[in-house]
Amino acid sequence: MAGELERVKEEIRRRSDLVELVGHRVSLKKAGKTWKGLCPFHDDKNPSFIVSPEYGHYRCWSCGAKGDVFNWVMETQRVDFIEALRILARETGVELPQFNQGEKSDSEEMELAMAEAQSFFREQLRSEKTALHYIEERGLDQSVIDHWEIGYAPHQGEALAVRLKKKGFALATCQKLFLVEEDQRGGYYDRFRSRLMFPIRDERGRLVAFGGRIIGAGNPKYINSSDTPLYSKSRVLYGMDKAKESISKEDQAVLVEGYMDVIACHRAGVTQAVASLGTALAEDHVRLLKRWCSKVVVLYDSDDAGKKAADRAAAMISEAGLVAKISLLAPGEDPDTLLKTKGAGAVKVAVDQGISPMDFRMAMLNEKLSADDDSYWTEVVQVLATAETPLELQKYLIPVSAQYPGISDRQAAAKALERMVQAERKRLKTVVGRRSYTEPEESLEKVESIASKLVGSERVLFRSIFEPGLRQHAWQFAKFSPLMQTDKAQSVAQVLAEVGELPEAENWLNLLEDGEVKDYLFELALESREPIGIRNLEEAVDWLTKEKVRREARENLVDHGDESLRAFLNKRKETNKGSKDY
Ligand code: UTP
Ligand code: MN
Repeated sequence: MAGELERVKEEIRRRSDLVELVGHRVSLKKAGKTWKGLCPFHDDKNPSFIVSPEYGHYRCWSCGAKGDVFNWVMETQRVDFIEALRILARETGVELPQFNQGEKSDSEEMELAMAEAQSFFREQLRSEKTALHYIEERGLDQSVIDHWEIGYAPHQGEALAVRLKKKGFALATCQKLFLVEEDQRGGYYDRFRSRLMFPIRDERGRLVAFGGRIIGAGNPKYINSSDTPLYSKSRVLYGMDKAKESISKEDQAVLVEGYMDVIACHRAGVTQAVASLGTALAEDHVRLLKRWCSKVVVLYDSDDAGKKAADRAAAMISEAGLVAKISLLAPGEDPDTLLKTKGAGAVKVAVDQGISPMDFRMAMLNEKLSADDDSYWTEVVQVLATAETPLELQKYLIPVSAQYPGISDRQAAAKALERMVQAERKRLKTVVGRRSYTEPEESLEKVESIASKLVGSERVLFRSIFEPGLRQHAWQFAKFSPLMQTDKAQSVAQVLAEVGELPEAENWLNLLEDGEVKDYLFELALESREPIGIRNLEEAVDWLTKEKVRREARENLVDHGDESLRAFLNKRKETNKGSKDY
C-alpha cells in the first residue's frame, strides 16, 4: 500500500503545474528558471516567494514557508494530506486506489444517501408539470437547471423515504441528514415536500445539504437542511464550488442573500457570487472567503433588514482583514429581479457600484437623522470610527463638523471631532480587537489630556453648559475655579471666568483663545449626548462642594489643629442637610 501511495503521489506531482496553481493566488513573474511573487503566507513587501517548476517546490526566503504541490493545497485550502491528495487527484485525473476496502464507513454511507436523494429529486422534476411550469415562469432554462442540478421533492409524504429504504439505506441515518423524519408510529416521512430542490455543495463540491423552495407562494418560503454530520451552515456558502475559481481570479467575492440571487448573478456573468443560507453571515464564512480573495462586495436588498445585515456583514468582513464594499439594490429589488427586469449589465453595474462601509453608514445616518438631532453626534462618532484609512476619515471630518449647529470655527470643531473618533477607535480596539489602521500613539495620549484628568463631577458640570435647559444654572458654578478639584478643571473654569457672563451667541466657543481648554470645550459641545438632567448637575455641584469643604478643612487642620476639625464637622453636617432637598 505504501508503495502504491508513493506512486500516486509522484504521478500527481508530475501532472500538476505548481506555477499555474500558485498563480491563482499569487501574481508571479518569471525570473530565470523560477517564478517570483509576494509571499501569501506573510505580509510581504518585496517579492520573496519563489516557485521552481523544475523541482516542483515553492519557498519563501523571508518567512521560510516551503513545500510541494501537496503542501500548497494543504496550506492554502486548510485541508489535511488525504484531502489534498483527493483534490489534486481529481484535478489531474489520477485515480486513487481504494485506501480502505471492505466495510462502508459512516460518512461514505451518508454521502451515498445524499447522492441517492439528489438523483431522486432530479428525476422527479422531469415529470412534475407544476414545478416545470414554475421554473419556466422564473426564467430558468434547462442549462441553468442542469448547471445548478435543481430538482423537485414530490408532494407525497414519503416518496423519498420509500426510495432510500428500497436502496438499502438505514432511515435512521437519513434522518441525521435532514432527508427524512421519524413519525409517532416509528415510520419515516420526507422532510421536503412539494418543493423545488437546490443541492448545496461545499467549496470542494461535496453534496452536503439541500434547500427547498415552495412552488409559488406559501410559508415557509424556503426550508434548509439543519446542521448534519456532513453540513455546518456557518461553514458553507451556496455556490462556492462554482464560484471559487473566479473569486480567486478576480480576487473578489460577491455576497448575495439567497439561492436565486446566486444563480441570477452567475447567469449575468458575475460568477464570483455566493450566499450564506438561512443564516446570517458567520465568521467561518468569512474565513472561507479569505482563503480565496481579499475583497468582498455585499449585494443585499435595501429593505431595513437587508441594510442591517449588509452593515453587519461588512463589519465582519473588514474585521477579518478583507476589504468590504456594500452595494444596495433599489427597494424591492434583488439580483434575481434585477436580471429579469434590467438585464445582465444591470447586475454587473450593481456589483461595481459598491461603496465603502463607512460611506454606506454615513448615508444611512444622514437618511435617518439630521445634524440638529443630538443623537446624530453620538452616532456620527461611531460611524467615523469605522474608517478604514486615515484618508477616509479626513474625507468626512471637516464637512461633518461644519454642520455642528452654531460653530463656525471649522478647524477647531474638526479637531474636536477627530479626537472623539480616535477615542472611540481606541475603545473599539480594546472591546473587540478589531482591525484598524494604526495611528501614532502620542496623538492618543494627547486626546485624553484634559478629559481623562477631570473627575466625573467636573465633567458633568462642564457638559451641562451645553445642555439648553441647564446652561444658565451650570454656568455660575462652572466658572468658579475654587470649586474644582483638579488643576485641569481649574484652568477650564478660569477661561470661563474670563468670558464673564454666559454669552447668548451659540458660537461663543469660537471666540476663545486657541489652546487645550478650547479644544476640550469643543469636544464636550460635540460629544455624544448621554442625557444629563438637573439632578445630575445638582449632584455634581453637591459633590464638588463637599470635596471643597473637605479640602479646606484638611488645609485648616494642618494650620490650626483640632479646633477647626470640629468646625469642619459642623460645616459638613450643614451641607449634608442642604443636599437632602434635591
Ligand atoms: P428572500 O425572502 O429574499 O427570498 O430570502 P429570495 O432569495 O428572493 O427567494 P425567491 O426569489 O423569492 O425565490 C433570501 C434567502 O433567505 C433564505 C433563503 O436562503 C433565501 O434564498 N430564506 C428565506 C430561508 O432560509 N427561509 C425562508 O423562509 C426565506
Ligand atoms: Mn428573489
